[in-house]
Amino acid sequence: MRIMIISSSPNKDGLTAACEEQARLGVTEAGAEAAVVRLNDQNIGKCHACDNGWGTCLKKNTCQVTDDFQEYHALMKDMDGFIFITPVYWGDMSESVKAFFDRVRRCEGFKKENQFLLGKPVICVAAAGGSGRGCLSCLTQFERFIEHMRAKLVDIVGITRWSREYKLKDIYNASAHLAKLPTEGQRG
Ligand SMILES: Cc1cc2nc3c(=O)[nH]c(=O)nc-3n(C[C@H](O)[C@H](O)[C@H](O)COP(=O)(O)O)c2cc1C
Repeated sequence: MRIMIISSSPNKDGLTAACEEQARLGVTEAGAEAAVVRLNDQNIGKCHACDNGWGTCLKKNTCQVTDDFQEYHALMKDMDGFIFITPVYWGDMSESVKAFFDRVRRCEGFKKENQFLLGKPVICVAAAGGSGRGCLSCLTQFERFIEHMRAKLVDIVGITRWSREYKLKDIYNASAHLAKLPTEGQRG
């Protein structure tokens, strides 16, 4: 079982990083492999909405904007599950994960076969470390992405600095649960 943990804050010791660490511990202590990707350390730019709105994403399921996107998009193919973690910015996901999701959904959304997220289990985490507001609107956007990808939404977690202590435990437990789910070939 290989789980990709995507986190998307520039802050290396903030609330998002604490969520990432609990997800990693949950996955690895359940005996699975964790591939941690910190999007803010990668060079992944925004979608160019090529030509009249669609580029190679529609016809070839690839993105013609060449940067680190290709490496992490390709890695998704070999994963059995995903944990997406974002800080809440303006009641929304962070810019780095938005840029990544925008490009993934264009490449994966209309695939006829070998869709990289199809039916795979996903946990989404939104970390609102300021006012604590905006988790719901942020997670609603995550849920739309999961729907478009036809992935399986196992859990959504909103965490604030006031709920930090017990929600970090939830993230650990949810991640361990995800890591023990049957892999694609074994799913009914
Ligand atoms: C541009 C920006 C917008 C933010 N908007 C919100 C918000 O809507 N709600 C909230 O609770 N916190 C908000 N915050 C605070 C972050 O959610 C908080 O700093 C969070 O802990 C970020 O994750 P980090 O600890 O990994 O940096 C915002 C922070 C930034 C930089």
